Amino acid sequence: MPLADLLLPFLLTLPAYVANPMAVLFGGGTPMDFDRTWRGRRVLGDGKTWRGFFGGAGSGLVLGALLTALWNSGSEIPLWATERLLLAFTILAFGALLGDLAAAFVKRRLGLERGAKAPGLDQFDFLFGALLLLLALDPRFFAATYLSGDRIYGLLLVILITPALHRAVNLIGFRMGKKKEPW
Ligand code: CTP
Ligand code: MG
Repeated sequence: MPLADLLLPFLLTLPAYVANPMAVLFGGGTPMDFDRTWRGRRVLGDGKTWRGFFGGAGSGLVLGALLTALWNSGSEIPLWATERLLLAFTILAFGALLGDLAAAFVKRRLGLERGAKAPGLDQFDFLFGALLLLLALDPRFFAATYLSGDRIYGLLLVILITPALHRAVNLIGFRMGKKKEPW
């Protein structure tokens, strides 16, 4: 199996991996639910802020633009392909934080306080948010990136390494004092 098939899905997913922790660095200020409650509980909670959302997604976007520029410098790619790539990176970056929001919504409905552990949800919310939004908005790009030929093994690799990566990045954030819990 060509190494590129194994590594490309991960490289192309990087904007999602970066958007999630960058939301922690940017976070703070007005909560996205404006303190509103639903059925006696916060809609999303204080852990989801506008600054975190746009700071995180924006950071993912910046990385996406850098990756695109890097790609272009290696081998000139046509303008339509450049645009396609940028669009996909944008979807992945915003999808990651939308997945994070969806998970917070679910956690609040389950009665879990902000920051409470939700195994599975905490590790995968951003990844599945990103992948599902890309699948919904650009299914052809999704299929070419993650499903064609041996790329599916690259997708499996992405899914398999996510819990460990998530854990490592959160530990760093925790040690830096940026994150209240190490998960
Ligand atoms: N954060 C933010 N805005 C976002 C996402 C994250 O401000 N849209 C910041 C918050 O300071 C949050 C921290 O990043 O506390 C850690 O993110 P996360 O673990 O996703 O949130 P939790 O605090 O665990 O809250 P929840 O239980 O709702 O997931
Ligand atoms: Mg958390």
